[in-house]
Amino acid sequence: MSKLGAEKLVIATHNAGKLKEISALLAPFGLECVSAGELGLLEPEETGTTFVENALIKARAASAAAGHPALADDSGLSVTALDGRPGVYTADWAERQWFEGEAGRDWFMAMGKVEGMLQAQGSEVDRACWFSCVLAIAWPDGNSITYEGRIDGTLAWPPRGTMGFGYDPVFVPLGESRSFAEHDPEEKHRISHRADAFAKLVSDQFGG
Ligand code: IMP
Repeated sequence: MSKLGAEKLVIATHNAGKLKEISALLAPFGLECVSAGELGLLEPEETGTTFVENALIKARAASAAAGHPALADDSGLSVTALDGRPGVYTADWAERQWFEGEAGRDWFMAMGKVEGMLQAQGSEVDRACWFSCVLAIAWPDGNSITYEGRIDGTLAWPPRGTMGFGYDPVFVPLGESRSFAEHDPEEKHRISHRADAFAKLVSDQFGG
């Protein structure tokens, strides 16, 4: 058995896409993955001010309610010239009342907001940014651990590409000319902030 000490892991997400992606990444380790949504667990409020705090809030709530270890993630985009914003508020910047997109989120509005704030600083503004992903595992006995992944890049404008989600059309990884939305998903998943955090988790929990 892995360091995890259990064969069943609760994935603390109500997002079917994330559950699918995380279950696929954990498939080689023979774990039974069940989502917080499937168990009917309530989603806690993300009141943290860091990715680590929010990932821990979600993992601890699910683990305590389900009585099994739970895995949660929290992620977002940080822009150097905006002092790291939107950061933990990445999803909030896309919220628009009555908008009929994915969960009421308008990503073009959000990308436009970031770009508008950058352009307000002049044409020489630093366009550096990075995506972060924190994975947290919490156990019912109160123990927890976090793993942090990151990918650095620059902000492109206008948005380019049709693959991916969220801010992918304006994120160009360092050393690349294509945006994340111009990468096919497998290519993106090999280099992303989520892949980086997962590699650290797998190496620590499963030794490989
Ligand atoms: P949360 O982790 O569900 O709280 O959401 C963080 C938000 O960050 C997402 O809704 C996305 O908009 C954004 N985000 C996180 N990872 C990515 C990515 O790989 N590409 C584009 N946007 C991302």
